Amino acid sequence: MDLYLDSADIAALGPLLATGLFRGVTTNPLILQRANVRLDEVPTLVEWLLERTDGDVFVQTTAQDADDIKREGSRLRAMSDRLVVKVPATRDGLTATRRLVDAGVPTLVTAVYGPRQAVLAAAAGAQWIAPYLGRMTEAGRDGHEQVARMVQVLRGSGTRTLVASIRSPEDVVGLAAAGADAVTLGADVAQALFDEPLTEAAVAQFDAAAAALR
Ligand code: G3P
Repeated sequence: MDLYLDSADIAALGPLLATGLFRGVTTNPLILQRANVRLDEVPTLVEWLLERTDGDVFVQTTAQDADDIKREGSRLRAMSDRLVVKVPATRDGLTATRRLVDAGVPTLVTAVYGPRQAVLAAAAGAQWIAPYLGRMTEAGRDGHEQVARMVQVLRGSGTRTLVASIRSPEDVVGLAAAGADAVTLGADVAQALFDEPLTEAAVAQFDAAAAALR
């Protein structure tokens, strides 16, 4: 399962991207707002991200109707061949996704809350879907079970799952076990993945032993 970072906060992203463990970075208007990045600053952010990852950078359209989404998505893609366009799983977004994919623009269908939308995204030829795990759970749905069904319905379709809205490292483990293709993590959850007090205690023993042997 591949790991991505769901953030536009370059102070938090820098050290995490430097580990080399994260395949790319996903953003959306909410992520940009949390990092105080204006829409006219997105090209600069994308350039900064592309310099620090060999993977893909995902940027979301903000238009409402299919024609405008298609136009905006094509314009975003023109920034880089490592930019994947994110489009919400609305009727207009799915319509625009089909047109973008037919024009050769890799697209992720986002804000996915159920297997029905996964079926639609595959019909649109989307490279990815982004199920919102945390929000599904907070809406009273069984988020992990819904993602498992999406993985199942997408098998053989060419559309992969990049799960977002993740609340804990335990979610990451459960998603890997369920066969999700990738997850995208806020900086807090990404950093929490590394925390293991028992490992730290063992390393302290190694250090003490090594010091005694010098
Ligand atoms: O990328 C998904 C993100 O914007 C939604 O996640 O944490 O607001 O539920 P969250």
